[in-house]
Amino acid sequence: MTDAAGALSGKTALITGGAGSIGFASASAFVREGARVMLVDLHEAALTEAVAKLSPERAAYVVADVTQAEAAQRYVDATVARFGKIDVLFSNAGNLGAIAPIEDYPLEEFESVLDVHVKGAFLACKYAVPKMNDGGSIIITSSIVGVRGSPGAFGYSVAKHAQVGLMRSLAKQLAKRRIRVNTIHPGPVDNEFQLEVERRLSIILKHDATAALNAAIPLGRHARAAEIAESVLFLASDASSFTTGTTLMADGGMFS
Ligand SMILES: NC(=O)c1ccc[n+]([C@@H]2O[C@H](COP(=O)([O-])OP(=O)(O)OC[C@H]3O[C@@H](n4cnc5c(N)ncnc54)[C@H](O)[C@@H]3O)[C@@H](O)[C@H]2O)c1
Repeated sequence: MTDAAGALSGKTALITGGAGSIGFASASAFVREGARVMLVDLHEAALTEAVAKLSPERAAYVVADVTQAEAAQRYVDATVARFGKIDVLFSNAGNLGAIAPIEDYPLEEFESVLDVHVKGAFLACKYAVPKMNDGGSIIITSSIVGVRGSPGAFGYSVAKHAQVGLMRSLAKQLAKRRIRVNTIHPGPVDNEFQLEVERRLSIILKHDATAALNAAIPLGRHARAAEIAESVLFLASDASSFTTGTTLMADGGMFS
């Protein structure tokens, strides 16, 4: 297979949550820029569809639950076997969990959200790092609530903050290999994941949470997943060669 030209020409990228909105949009940008991508997600039907849309030559998938160590080892090994050593790890899989006052917040939801975002990102890094090329890039999808509180989203906000600690510590470990590690912090995205948040918030707050958020975003609207993908691409590519250990807000100015 010849390498397509572009910012990620000849590079191999591993993307968790790769069949989801931001994961797939990022995979599309990566393939457009010449990368080969391995998508990891829970459901085979969504992965098959995603690979067919991307390019059966340049994209492949592994069905895996990111919370399981055996699965992380398996999807890393499958990536190396199919496309060679990894240049870009995009740890992006996520779940929402409950939105409730802390006294009503179910412990099992708290644990489930930390498992996916924190343990999932930890395992992805733990198994991918030994199989990465020097000079590569790790990006972890956090959120605006990874740098600010969000009453009710206790599991989600704690998990998104914890990912920043993982990122900062790993950035220091991997600098000697010129592997950069950063978090991306999307604001509200116009997709099903966020609409579900807003449906629930609208009931709790008794007003239209979508309209309230648009009013709180200086750019006046939700992001498109494809716009977040371009910020991820910046962190994945050599364009960000002196950027490591940082939190990149892609939030329309919401928390400026
Ligand atoms: N949508 C937003 O407004 C928004 C804002 C900030 C951050 N984020 C974050 O962006 C990331 C991607 O979310 P999205 O908006 O694309 O939503 P999405 O639901 O479309 O994508 C998330 C993907 O993660 C997968 N996933 C969940 N648990 C998994 C597991 N245990 N193992 C493997 N895969 C699993 C899901 O199947 C899904 O495909 C998440 O980390 C989310 O927290 C989203």
